Amino acid sequence: MTLQSRILLVILATQLVLAGILAAGSLDRLRRDIATETRTGAQTARNLVLATIGTMQDAVPPDRVMALLPERLTEPRHARIGVMDALDGTLRQPPGPADPLLQAPRWFAALVAPYPQETRLPVVVAGRPRGYVLITGDPAEEIARAWRDMRDLMALTLALAALQAMLIAQALSRGLRPLERIATRLSDLTRGDLESRIGHLPQPELAPLARHADNLAEALEQAHADRRRLQHQIVARADAERKAIARDLHDEMGPCLFGLRVEADALRETAPDAATRQAADQIGTIADQIASVNRALLNDLRPMAVGQLPLATVLADYVEDLNRRFPETRIDLDIAAGLPEPDEPTALTLFRILQEGTTNALRHARAGRVTIRLWTDPAHWRMILADDGAGIADGRREGTGLTGMRERITLLGGDLRLESDAEGTRLTARLPRQAAQRNRTTT
Ligand SMILES: Nc1ncnc2c1ncn2[C@@H]1O[C@H](COP(=O)(O)OP(=O)(O)O)[C@@H](O)[C@H]1O
Ligand SMILES: [Mg+2]
Repeated sequence: MTLQSRILLVILATQLVLAGILAAGSLDRLRRDIATETRTGAQTARNLVLATIGTMQDAVPPDRVMALLPERLTEPRHARIGVMDALDGTLRQPPGPADPLLQAPRWFAALVAPYPQETRLPVVVAGRPRGYVLITGDPAEEIARAWRDMRDLMALTLALAALQAMLIAQALSRGLRPLERIATRLSDLTRGDLESRIGHLPQPELAPLARHADNLAEALEQAHADRRRLQHQIVARADAERKAIARDLHDEMGPCLFGLRVEADALRETAPDAATRQAADQIGTIADQIASVNRALLNDLRPMAVGQLPLATVLADYVEDLNRRFPETRIDLDIAAGLPEPDEPTALTLFRILQEGTTNALRHARAGRVTIRLWTDPAHWRMILADDGAGIADGRREGTGLTGMRERITLLGGDLRLESDAEGTRLTARLPRQAAQRNRTTT
């Protein structure tokens, strides 16, 4: 139940109880008034009957008194008169007042009607009983009047209550409308729109709520920015570490291996016998093997060209090399024109996606064709890599390659989607662009 209907219900219930108490009080009063009026009416009727009989006694023959009495009487208000003539045993009534225009409903009459009272007045003329007169109180007219008053009062009360309820409902709905705004902004926040704010509210009860929610949003936005910066730093730091290891491997191992090779060659030249010559050959072969492992390791640790050459060139070179080595698969690279140069962690990530994606397509999918698209939207670097291979087999989990790629992308605040069916596999990656880069292209 809404707050609004609850408040309205409480107010209406209070009004109903109040109206009930008032009605009960006035019913009591009405009942007493009607009883008094009716009793007075009966009293008046009694006096009237006695006076009329008095005036008739000398003017009318005694045995005609009862027959003529009803004509001589006019019924007073609030009483009914009946004349019982002992001669013929008939009960005659004088003409009464017209029925009241408005009749009270039966239930109301039952509530306020007084206890019926009847007076039987014996008539004795010239020493002989001639019959009797019946006088009963008649509250109908009074009841009808009371009903009219009561009904008007109730109608007015009802109209006022409805007006009050309407005004209260209107005030409440206007007062509570900002809650909708607050709810919308909070759901914006939940959806990840951290720049959404409620702003100032004129309602003094809701203003602090809005202020606190906005402060919370601000803190959240700040924390989010901090986290992204830190994650970016983690990736950049790890990249720097690998770069340093690669440099050491290159600078230290390279010359040593070269020296070993030269020494092996020299030994071979000056070898006194075939066995020594063979040993020198073997040393040379092992040195070559180590050099090749070293090169692979270097490339894995740090693709040298990334950060040195424009990303587009590095990617194009890599794809060209693949096309040469795997002529049965066609690899197409489509890079949007005029792309800015990404920061190094992003460049390295884009390279890794290309590297891992093409390797998977060649190794697992036996694809005939691989297409790669790279472009930007205002906030992201976007890359799609699709092959037309067999698709990822059911039940296959993401391995080191895909997991590592996803982790790196997530750390940089991006996301990776993997779709695969019998028609092939598609990787869709999004990486946030740094604010500085975004500005550089827009200005
Ligand atoms: N393009 C693809 N086509 C078909 N299968 C794929 C593709 N990419 C990945 N897979 C499947 O998903 C598994 C996990 O891939 P990945 O995480 O790159 O690990 P790895 O390549 O080291 O096996 C692979 O072993 C392979 O079975
Ligand atoms: Mg792989």
